[in-house]
Amino acid sequence: MKIPITKPFFGAEELRAIQEPLEAGWVVQGPFVQRFEKQFVDFTGARFAAAASSCTTALHLAVAALKLSPGDDVLVPAFTWVATANVVEYMGARPVFVDIDLDSFNIDPELAGAAVTAKTVGMIPVHLFGLCADMPRLSALAKKRSLWTIEDAACAFGTWSRGKHAGTFGEFGCFSFHPRKSITTGEGGMVTTMNPELHALVSSLRDHGASRTDRQRHESGGGFLLASYPYLGYNYRLTDIQGALGSVQMTRAQTLLDGRTRAAARYSERLAGFDWLALPAVPNGDVHGWQSYVCLFRPEPPSMSNVARLHAQRNAVMARMEAQGIATRQGTHAPTIQEFYATKYRIRPEDFPNAYLADRLSLSLPLYPQMTDAEIETVVTALGEAIGHR
Ligand SMILES: Cc1ncc(COP(=O)(O)O)c(C=O)c1O
Repeated sequence: MKIPITKPFFGAEELRAIQEPLEAGWVVQGPFVQRFEKQFVDFTGARFAAAASSCTTALHLAVAALKLSPGDDVLVPAFTWVATANVVEYMGARPVFVDIDLDSFNIDPELAGAAVTAKTVGMIPVHLFGLCADMPRLSALAKKRSLWTIEDAACAFGTWSRGKHAGTFGEFGCFSFHPRKSITTGEGGMVTTMNPELHALVSSLRDHGASRTDRQRHESGGGFLLASYPYLGYNYRLTDIQGALGSVQMTRAQTLLDGRTRAAARYSERLAGFDWLALPAVPNGDVHGWQSYVCLFRPEPPSMSNVARLHAQRNAVMARMEAQGIATRQGTHAPTIQEFYATKYRIRPEDFPNAYLADRLSLSLPLYPQMTDAEIETVVTALGEAIGHR
């Protein structure tokens, strides 16, 4: 591809950093992971951060720490990566899907309120593509109905709302460091929280439920004895090689975010006249993290009756872009139409119409911090030509 959907940014510092754990001979979770966690706390303002092997495992740790159980229901947006719902299933509980607001792609707070029943124990709002979900309204709902909140902040590094970083509103925030995200460790995740007991619990659960880490055992007297294992835990640890990589990515975090913001602003300026595309909007008081630049293909107001035709048109545009060497993607998907959920809960596309429209009509453009204005111009020109052919 001439212009890929994203490009992780690595420099000489990352190359050097990943050698350090190899030279030291300690490659499992250790001092570099600890340094990465400290930098993450400093950046986000969360009180605590525990690294995990992915955002999916981070979310799993969070629901396990909150003791999610069979018979419990959890609110989950109907347009998100399937992992948000999967972690609820892992615990034998039920994800109750809630439709999204098509302007923000995030969970609709009003519908969330209407979906709460006596079985609802919590919610997992998602800050999709780097835009914060409506946390004031969701937090008020959580408080009123005594629900816990886990923020799926997979896409929300560098995402702020009213001066607070994503992942600091609820009981937990869970981040991803997959290469499609703003900083990357290959695979990786982070669980943030303000609560010391919850932090201690997820830190143990990621490490088989151990009472102390391997590193603590090796550094203290009596290290010949294993830890004790009071909890049913998992091995969801990040390696120190990844920790070293993440730590360097953190030192350039603001530069990487600024590069994404600049590219996104340029798109918004250059695409302003494309009335067939709804561009991402940022509410006052919010800072978009720009994990992705996702538009909605809407040459006419979309509905369940014209979506099949518009979907075919969007795909034709995407195919033309691909033929020009420019990668585009659908924003994310609707888990509600994936076979597992559609069959298990007998869900039809029209049950969550906005999620379905977003699945069929979203259009994510290439975005990376080192993207040049010339590359953006190439994308914009190709888009204009592609719609001309429609
Ligand atoms: C909203 C959302 N949640 C969870 C995940 C899972 O993250 P990971 O790939 O780090 O497990 C993703 C990944 O794309 C995501 O977009």
